[in-house]
Amino acid sequence: MNVLILGANGQIARYAIDLFLKDTNANLTLYLRNAERLSEYQSDHVKVMDGDVLDDQKLKQAMTGIDVVYANLSGDMEGQAKSIIKAMKETNVTRLIFITTLGIYDEVPGEFGEWNNQTIGPYLEPYRIAADLIEDSGLNYTIIRPAWLTHNDEIDFEITDKSEPFKGTEVSRKSVASLVVDIAENPELHSRQNIGVNKPNTEGPKPAFY
Ligand SMILES: NC(=O)c1ccc[n+]([C@@H]2O[C@H](COP(=O)([O-])OP(=O)(O)OC[C@H]3O[C@@H](n4cnc5c(N)ncnc54)[C@H](OP(=O)(O)O)[C@@H]3O)[C@@H](O)[C@H]2O)c1
Repeated sequence: MNVLILGANGQIARYAIDLFLKDTNANLTLYLRNAERLSEYQSDHVKVMDGDVLDDQKLKQAMTGIDVVYANLSGDMEGQAKSIIKAMKETNVTRLIFITTLGIYDEVPGEFGEWNNQTIGPYLEPYRIAADLIEDSGLNYTIIRPAWLTHNDEIDFEITDKSEPFKGTEVSRKSVASLVVDIAENPELHSRQNIGVNKPNTEGPKPAFY
């Protein structure tokens, strides 16, 4: 299994790298800007590659021989989604795991939904556009919409489908990373699904840590 991690120095991605190395035999390509930040990971199983996701040529180069692409990005979500879709199509790579955020479908109910909209509403549209592009791409995607993220050292999560209201308020980055690793190891898991991820029993007007 050859996994390409885009935005590999992202906070969820760092947990995922550690889980991949601890629990799987996957070969990893860590793709990031200023790659020297992860140079200590370079090994027989891990290639560290300097690159911007908006650099079409370099991204295409990184896709060679890859089975699963895991995108853990921020910033220009629309531009990056377009670059990823183009590079995957040109290299015949089909399996994509893509992190977005809760709230892009106004799917968060109640008081927390209102608070979430007030707090991050203006930032949601690019994530929604990226998700729409991916769903329309024909790729074998899993779009993940995490709740508010913590650094808690725990793996404890539940999933909601796109057709359901979002549950809970928060989830650990390690939980999202664990889900990513499970999907990469079992590519049929959550295939062509768009899922919310939260820690059970964290309902409330806002995340407990906020
Ligand atoms: N905070 C929350 O509670 C919350 C909740 C739900 C979802 N989310 C979203 O979930 C996503 C993942 O979360 P996270 O905590 O892992 O995010 P993060 O630590 O901000 O990681 C995002 C990564 O994207 C990389 N990136 C951005 N543009 C790039 C480009 N053009 N080329 C290459 N890399 C690029 C950044 O690289 P550099 O290091 O080079 O800048 C950064 O390492 C984010 O989009 C976040 O906003 C957050």
